[in-house]
Amino acid sequence: MLKLGVNIDHVATLRQARYRSAQYPAGNPRELSGAIPEPDPVWAAVEAELAGAHGITVHLREDRRHIQDRDVRLLRQTIRTRLNLEMADVPAIIAFAEELKPDEVCLVPEKRQEVTTEGGLNVAGAPKSLARTVARLKKAGIVVSLFVDPDARQIRAATDAGADFVELHTGTFANARHELEEAAEIKKLTTAAELAHKLGVRVNAGHGLNYQNTPAILAVPHLETLNTGHSIMSRALFVGLRQAVREMLALMAPPTR
Ligand code: PXP
Repeated sequence: MLKLGVNIDHVATLRQARYRSAQYPAGNPRELSGAIPEPDPVWAAVEAELAGAHGITVHLREDRRHIQDRDVRLLRQTIRTRLNLEMADVPAIIAFAEELKPDEVCLVPEKRQEVTTEGGLNVAGAPKSLARTVARLKKAGIVVSLFVDPDARQIRAATDAGADFVELHTGTFANARHELEEAAEIKKLTTAAELAHKLGVRVNAGHGLNYQNTPAILAVPHLETLNTGHSIMSRALFVGLRQAVREMLALMAPPTR
């Protein structure tokens, strides 16, 4: 069964837009500002789980622009599904992950200027330290995924680096302007998923998936989890988060005859 990981970064983005200084040092945040910083991504995770999400994804960025350390620590204690931590391959965040032990880590490229992750990791051109990071995280009992473009070189490099999973970047597919372009991207994703499977690496996918384009992604073989955030949160503004998650899960279920 195809699983849904709900990315809740966008809830933290909304909170930080107002409570930019909410860095959550120890203590009651109310004592810091008099107000309760809201909305709380931890609450969002509970709602997503109650609607049937199979996992919760957060990206702890180096600049802490949305998710805060406090959020990840509370999620670790409270969620009942799987915690997937997206992060850059940098020493301070690696140490944080080793201590916190999320169920999974997805290593992503990270640029300060970008609004969101813009593409897959260049695993083929990455320093040897990437394979060392994968080994370190696996040694801590964490399942490791590498976010890559659907490109054979990157899939082979991810295998060589020891990844358990690749998460196929679906951003180019999501940005397709017409059906022909979309079909070409599905073909690329399919070839990449088949190669990963043949090499013994498991396959997830994500980025830019929404209620319109998710049905087409179901044609890609070997997918285990779709990680989706922005579109679910956008719909949640109008129908509520539980309903938005349920609607996405319904789209992902194979038709019953
Ligand atoms: N997967 C990865 C690796 C990402 O970086 C993101 C964005 O944070 C997502 C999935 C979710 O993307 P979106 O918010 O466009 O659904």
